[in-house]
Amino acid sequence: MATLEIRDLHVTVEADNATKEILKGVDLTVKQGETHAIMGPNGSGKSTLAYSLAGHPKYTITGGTVTLDGEDVIEMSVDERARAGLFLAMQYPVEVPGVSVSNFLRTSATAIRGEAPKLRTWVKEVKEAMERLNMDPAFAERNVNEGFSGGEKKRHEILQLELLKPKVAILDETDSGLDVDALRVVSEGVNRVRESGEVGTLLITHYTRILRYIKPDHVHVFANGRIVESGGPELADKLENEGYEAYTKGGASE
Ligand SMILES: Nc1ncnc2c1ncn2[C@@H]1O[C@H](COP(=O)(O)OP(=O)(O)OP(=O)(O)O)[C@@H](O)[C@H]1O
Ligand SMILES: [Mg+2]
Repeated sequence: MATLEIRDLHVTVEADNATKEILKGVDLTVKQGETHAIMGPNGSGKSTLAYSLAGHPKYTITGGTVTLDGEDVIEMSVDERARAGLFLAMQYPVEVPGVSVSNFLRTSATAIRGEAPKLRTWVKEVKEAMERLNMDPAFAERNVNEGFSGGEKKRHEILQLELLKPKVAILDETDSGLDVDALRVVSEGVNRVRESGEVGTLLITHYTRILRYIKPDHVHVFANGRIVESGGPELADKLENEGYEAYTKGGASE
């Protein structure tokens, strides 16, 4: 069983010639097969956590440990993290001009599986995955995210998730900006991957809407750079009703 273990993680970022600590001691364990939802106010550091786990160079880890199956993740390059089984669906997916979706997916799959997927089965695999996500097959020949609508970008993230089958998937606001039908389609995609029982899911979200489709085992409140409370699915409803004031009172941002 793969386990992602985050212990007392501290992360800083350089901004305006100053070093700012964003993550202030994050503790979290995500096991394969589990789904964790992280909810918290804007600017509390949720995306910073996602980027730090993925190895974004902007973020400096100044303390703590991150391991996947006991292997030190912090020591790994971005590539190595992906090969080790970490996957990040970004809050704001980036455009990759000049690279088609189809080439991008095959290159990623080759890197992660350690060998190029056989072309015939691969084409079928991609086609079927796109159909399940109600994506027009024409997207395969378009450049990654270029001119994609917000919802199309999110579907493309889930397409990658389904094809790459990571051990731990971090989904940063994959639900934001989706219409009701897209939310269902995207959630079904996430659930198909979860049903394998082989992926641990870290779902960062602002809304309990998506949690109606993707049932979390654990819900965490993220405030001021750390997890300040953990509970079951009922915690999400409490947050929706009561907001985060109870967690952010008393100069939270400092
Ligand atoms: N590259 C960066 N340069 C400067 N400041 C940054 C950078 N990345 C993050 N920050 C700051 O760190 C804080 C946390 O940002 P982050 O994006 O992690 O928040 P979040 O919890 O994901 O918020 P949201 O719910 O709005 O997505 C913010 O104050 C943000 O301005
Ligand atoms: Mg964010």
